[in-house]
Amino acid sequence: MSKGTVSRSVIRRLPRYYRFLGELEKQGLIRISSRELSERMGLTASQIRQDFNCFGGFGQQGYGYNVKELHEKIGEILGVNMASPTIMIGAGNLGKAIAAHIDFNKRGFKLIGIFDSNPELEGMQIGSLEVKGTAELEQFCKSSKPEAAVLCIPKPAAAEVANLLVSYGISAFWNFSHYDLKLAHANAVVENVHLGDSLMTLSYGLKKLEDENK
Ligand code: NAI
Repeated sequence: MSKGTVSRSVIRRLPRYYRFLGELEKQGLIRISSRELSERMGLTASQIRQDFNCFGGFGQQGYGYNVKELHEKIGEILGVNMASPTIMIGAGNLGKAIAAHIDFNKRGFKLIGIFDSNPELEGMQIGSLEVKGTAELEQFCKSSKPEAAVLCIPKPAAAEVANLLVSYGISAFWNFSHYDLKLAHANAVVENVHLGDSLMTLSYGLKKLEDENK
């Protein structure tokens, strides 16, 4: 569907399109023009057309976009129906919150196991899963073949754990440890998440606003 390599900034906008279109679909909207979509999303209409053209373009001249169809197509591009088997490493405060509050199933992943090196957490129930000890990790990966891992462990452990998981066949990492994980393996993809970066972006915005109002 995509015409060659799509830039990272376009890919970063796709989940937002997907979310907006899902909301519009729930509101019963059948079709939308790129102008209307741009106004609702705070982007320019030409930006939206350019983004969609990376995938061959979806609209029809004079009609706009069919909301349900576009939502489905973007979902397909994002792989939201893949249900890729996923494990979580680290069942502390953050791990528990993510496991309990993120709907993995709606986003292309299926959480099938949670592991922690602290024996006191073994057997703790998080949603439908029981925390397992890391001693069981290798065997679990052999039998259940997870493809993705969520890392909610402290920074010093992140690189070693990720490399171990690559050797167990895991190729996608949603990394929350405060460490910019880079894997030398061509067959692994990493999404490093730093909530603090988002907060600092907000701080920049606030500072700019205050400077302008001086
Ligand atoms: P926590 O201390 O409550 O939980 C960490 C868990 O990881 C513990 O249960 C510990 O036993 C386990 N663990 C440590 N090494 C392990 C290993 N090698 N294998 C398996 N399990 C291991 O910490 P919390 O609050 O859950 O935070 C986790 C990490 O995420 C911290 O490094 C924190 O700084 C970071 N963090 C990142 C955020 C982000 O935006 N990226 C936001 C909040 C926290």
